[in-house]
Amino acid sequence: MHGLNPEKLPRHLAIIMDGNGRWAQERMLKRIIGHQRGVETVRVIVEESSRLGIKYLTLFAFSAENWLRPKTEVKSLMALLKKYIRIETARMIDSNIRFNVIGNLNELPPDVNEAVQEAIDRTSRNGGMILTLALSYGARQEILMAAGRIAEDLASGSLSRDNLDEKLFSSYLFTSDIPDPDFLIRTSGEMRISNFLLWQLAYTELYFSDVNWPEFKANELYRALRDYQSRERRFGRTSAQLQNRS
Ligand code: FPP
Repeated sequence: MHGLNPEKLPRHLAIIMDGNGRWAQERMLKRIIGHQRGVETVRVIVEESSRLGIKYLTLFAFSAENWLRPKTEVKSLMALLKKYIRIETARMIDSNIRFNVIGNLNELPPDVNEAVQEAIDRTSRNGGMILTLALSYGARQEILMAAGRIAEDLASGSLSRDNLDEKLFSSYLFTSDIPDPDFLIRTSGEMRISNFLLWQLAYTELYFSDVNWPEFKANELYRALRDYQSRERRFGRTSAQLQNRS
């Protein structure tokens, strides 16, 4: 079948879904058609990840910088997002998936925000996979926000300098309830992080696929996960040290 070891799956899988526009342009189609096909891939990958037993799946759906795209594309992407969230909420409930978002939500149109909040509320008691969409998300903005709030808490005395360590800093990020990603996939052959989870990716295994997002289906996910399972994660230690650990 997929040849995966269920014991060695990433606990947290993060994906930069790239190449919708190019997929469409290569076929003389409008970019939005690429995004529509991209949504179909989102459905497949969410379902497959949940079925495999991945606990956290985080998808980069819209970056803080994506607001700079042509107005018509931004509008269509927002409409697609709202439609996806509305339609998929029922399926998430059936699959025991908990919906979550990270990013600067107050920049989203109010109707998208409402759909987001409703999906969060209606899935809040689900105990299966936690699906996080990054919406209007930028990692530098997130780190700055955390630094600002830490500065405020230091000034007010609710936080002391001695308590400021990596764990505490992490608790000020959007991802405070989510472990760092074990594995990051980026599709469409681009080899960049593009302001995604900069703090959280410190020890993440990276995987770049040449396949455009609309064509990244279950087999491509298995291929990526098999690659992940063949790697040795050392977190700065030596191989020998890892082998001697019980
Ligand atoms: C990258 O393709 C993709 C995006 C900017 C957005 C991803 C959005 C979707 C898959 C659809 C909506 C999301 C959900 C979760 C329903 P690109 O346009 O940057 O492609 P290009 O680099 O080839 O132009």
